[in-house]
Amino acid sequence: QDRQPIVAIDGPAGAGKSTVTRQIAQALGLLYLDTGAMYRALTWLVLQSGIDIQDEPAIAELVSKCEIQLVPGENPQEPVRVWIDQQEVTEAIRDLEVTSNVSAIAAQPAVRKELVKQQQRYGRKGGIAIEGRDIGTHVFPDAELKIFLTASVQERARRRQQDLKNQGKGDISLDELERLIYERDRKDSTRTLAPLQKAVDAIEINTDGLTIAEVRDRIVALYHERVSTAAKA
Ligand code: CDP
Ligand code: CDP
Repeated sequence: QDRQPIVAIDGPAGAGKSTVTRQIAQALGLLYLDTGAMYRALTWLVLQSGIDIQDEPAIAELVSKCEIQLVPGENPQEPVRVWIDQQEVTEAIRDLEVTSNVSAIAAQPAVRKELVKQQQRYGRKGGIAIEGRDIGTHVFPDAELKIFLTASVQERARRRQQDLKNQGKGDISLDELERLIYERDRKDSTRTLAPLQKAVDAIEINTDGLTIAEVRDRIVALYHERVSTAAKA
């Protein structure tokens, strides 16, 4: 075997991918990659540059030249710090404006081609827990463990509302959050290229009513059952 195992975690917005994957990486001693942060950083740069989000040639040029860096936090509770072209955008990429434009940019062929290439390069030696929308289906279709995390739209909207409250930005209603999540999932799962989809060999975990620790422990147990024993055999 010429590479270490890969854990691929996919699912819709707010299913718990980032929080859970970060903890799994910590528990299993794997690198962690948040691919959504890459699409968000690029979207931030497009908006910042005043480029029309439909201007695919200009965005193709931008993605081929920009440099995205993800720097792990001090501990697994802390999010990854995100930089693009020497500017720190960790908080800015979570803004509503980025969130509502990211799906349109992530659907563009040149964008996916470049960012997927960077993700594959980052994970070429394996030993990585990587989360997004198309990891198990396209980025690492040979990943040793594929998880598809879901939760009801209502539950995901409640989680996002709590996130916003914790950040002191609590003025968006649950209905509006549900609508935004629903709309983003619709765009992500109906696009032509690498849509959000459960890989046939992914294990689906519905996280409604589960704590982060419970989801983490299930995935870690699956890893020990299916991956670490297979690697030893
Ligand atoms: O964290 P949240 O679920 O809100 O979204 P994210 O993981 O940060 O991803 C933001 C957006 O990037 C998604 O809505 C997709 O449009 C896009 N994305 C993608 O197309 N492919 C990926 N592998 C990851 C994200
Ligand atoms: O990355 P993704 O959009 O899938 O979700 P996230 O940003 O990791 O999680 C969204 C919010 O839900 C975070 O505040 C998590 O702490 C919370 N969460 C939860 O309350 N229960 C879970 N089982 C998973 C996540």
